[in-house]
Amino acid sequence: MSATSKHALGFRVIAECSKTKGRTGVLSLPHADVETPVFMPVGTQGTLKGLLPDQLEKLNCHLILGNTYHLGMRPGPEVLEKAGGLHNFMNWKKALLTDSGGFQMVSLLELSEVNEEGVKFVSPYDEREILLSPEKSIEIQNAIGADIIMQLDDVVSSTVSGPRVEEAMHRTIRWLDRCIKSHQKPQKQNIFPIVQGGLDSELRKKCVEELVKRDVPGFAIGGLSGGEAKDMFWSMVHITTDFLPPKKPRYLMGVGFAVDLVVCCALGCDMFDCVFPTRTARFGCALVDSGQINLKNRIFAEDFRPIDEQCTCTTCKRYHRAYLHSIVTKETVACHLVTVHNIAYQMSLMKSIRDSIKSDKFPVFVQEFMLKVYPKKD
Ligand code: GUN
Ligand code: ZN
Repeated sequence: MSATSKHALGFRVIAECSKTKGRTGVLSLPHADVETPVFMPVGTQGTLKGLLPDQLEKLNCHLILGNTYHLGMRPGPEVLEKAGGLHNFMNWKKALLTDSGGFQMVSLLELSEVNEEGVKFVSPYDEREILLSPEKSIEIQNAIGADIIMQLDDVVSSTVSGPRVEEAMHRTIRWLDRCIKSHQKPQKQNIFPIVQGGLDSELRKKCVEELVKRDVPGFAIGGLSGGEAKDMFWSMVHITTDFLPPKKPRYLMGVGFAVDLVVCCALGCDMFDCVFPTRTARFGCALVDSGQINLKNRIFAEDFRPIDEQCTCTTCKRYHRAYLHSIVTKETVACHLVTVHNIAYQMSLMKSIRDSIKSDKFPVFVQEFMLKVYPKKD
């Protein structure tokens, strides 16, 4: 981390792909140095479902996500403050990022309403009406103490069009200024703004033009991967990264399918998160190069191979598909074992991307990867 930096973050690009916008580097945060591009697994309630912090570290995972909405409700900012922050509370020594909470409320709760003040919602715990304002989101995130915190943004589903999308983009910029103003720990916690603007390239461009005027340590791209067509999703990422400053990290929110990770790394994104690998593990789905396999399927009842012959994770070293098939969805141990594999898969995919960029073989990697997912039919 540079001693003169105003931010609690350093970002060094080590190598760039000669054919795409892909790059690899190191993100230095107060609690860890993280190699990019990086996938960040999502822990919601101060745990990553199915894994202990030690196990995550052994999987080479040094940056995970927490959630302001969930942690703000339980245990709440007072308890977190007294515990000395979420790192201490959950015994996680490495880096943390927290999302601001609005997106979760809008996507999880039917009873949420957005106005200029913030996001209003009815608490599912005690049915009280609560307002999550930009100031409140930052107050909770200051109590949580993550290395990177997110501004509260006005998120509109990517399938919505019309004036609401433009309104949300402008409101996101106004809320950014309120977030920056109320942030109490800029020397310890890095606040990222979020580019919104739906599927409109002009709005995305305008949003970036405004955000770059603020002195922020990195940028997030939001409002995508919510059911829009892939070509629209990817072209929005493409134009957004074209406008973002090259020396700052770019975090593409809510993206975690392997194909999207590969494509969006080629488009110049550095950080990703998604509940998909851990959630799908709990339903018995294991990630493999051709996509995923559902271990509940009877075809695995007598399949004595590991999930993936090439995988070096402890699940693949010790257990075969037949065993996993017999316990999956019935035993919590199965959830644990498949989660270990899925996190290992994501970590290994990102390492392959980084290594191929370093040796300037990323285009070959992309070609080989896509052929495994979409084999040639003759
Ligand atoms: N997670 C996935 N997409 C988004 C987004 O647009 N905003 C926020 N705050 N979180 C997200
Ligand atoms: Zn494995």
